[in-house]
Amino acid sequence: MPPVVGTPGLSQGGFDWARLQAEAVAIMRRAYAPYSHFPVGVAGLVDDGRVVLGCNVENAAYGVGLCAECGMVSQLHATGGGRLVAVACVGGDGQALMPCGRCRQLLWENGGPDCLLLTPEGVLPMREVLPQAFGPADLDAAARRGQA
Ligand code: THU
Repeated sequence: MPPVVGTPGLSQGGFDWARLQAEAVAIMRRAYAPYSHFPVGVAGLVDDGRVVLGCNVENAAYGVGLCAECGMVSQLHATGGGRLVAVACVGGDGQALMPCGRCRQLLWENGGPDCLLLTPEGVLPMREVLPQAFGPADLDAAARRGQA
């Protein structure tokens, strides 16, 4: 197994990042990626202590393949909901992988600006990973203005 990140400090939210990364690596090994040969695994810590997991699941109709984060968010809701507070996404080498743009939007919806993400440059809050994000607040604001 590839090395995982070291013991977290307070600047990393005090979470057990090594455990979260190890869970992401384990689920990455379940990826179904026969077309891209690019397995991805993701683990998310929920605000009630649960850990939810996902791996990418591709399809012969390439465009309908599911990113790992889709599976994780589905598991989040299927097992009771809650908010993501810390997420680790890894590629086939077991190292931190930046989520694609679409999946950053998924993380924003389910974790918000304070959700922490393990990145190749260390742990970053979603407010830095998806700046000026569109989200539920924009819909609420439009509704208050009578636009939606
Ligand atoms: N992939 C993910 O699962 N999550 C990401 O955030 C980036 C990309 C998957 C989709 C596809 O199965 C493979 O990686 C190559 O793009």
